[in-house]
Amino acid sequence: MAADNAVRPGLNAGRRRVFFALWPDASVQASLAKAAGSIHRMTHGRLTSAANIHLTLAFIGSVSLERLALLLAPPAEVVSRAFILTLDECGCWPRNGIVWAAPSKIPDALGALAANLERWLRAAQFELEVRGFSPHVTLIRHARCGQLMRSMAPVEWRVGSFSLVESQPRSGGSVYRALGTWPLAPVRSPCLRNDHG
Ligand code: 2AM
Repeated sequence: MAADNAVRPGLNAGRRRVFFALWPDASVQASLAKAAGSIHRMTHGRLTSAANIHLTLAFIGSVSLERLALLLAPPAEVVSRAFILTLDECGCWPRNGIVWAAPSKIPDALGALAANLERWLRAAQFELEVRGFSPHVTLIRHARCGQLMRSMAPVEWRVGSFSLVESQPRSGGSVYRALGTWPLAPVRSPCLRNDHG
């Protein structure tokens, strides 16, 4: 994904299609792309390119540049702790032919981050879908679901930041660009007691 904190007002008639997401590093993307490649042999469909692999936290849609300025300043109370996300399940939704990878256990910090974002965005009058947070990484679109094993070789992802991402639909698939990235709070190591009695 291109990283670019400059918002260019000349493009797209002053509006942006945006969402908050977790964006993995290249090595996690490569591991997920490899898993997708194996599944693709069974399902066919259009593979997500490795560089586009991500997990959406909150999808906002089209916003004006004025409203975008607000999204570029998430309040401190939104930020949860860094966490490890283990993607160890895969599946296929027959309704839209999406093959996905997901965690069998949602870390508390991930649930908190998504809930905090949703609370903040709703309070700021952004309209979000009510379908609920179902954390997943889209690996393939237009797949033929058929029989798919539910488990996959776990991919461990150390999540240390979240981003506001712009999506630009193109004929060959969406192009994504990070408009802002914010660190999650470091995990405190356990207190080491130094007293011997
Ligand atoms: P998907 O991969 O399941 O389609 C950019 O389009 C990202 O936002 C994708 O991760 C996509 O999820 C998600 N997205 C697109 N439209 C959405 C919507 N209406 N509600 C929630 N997420 C959406």
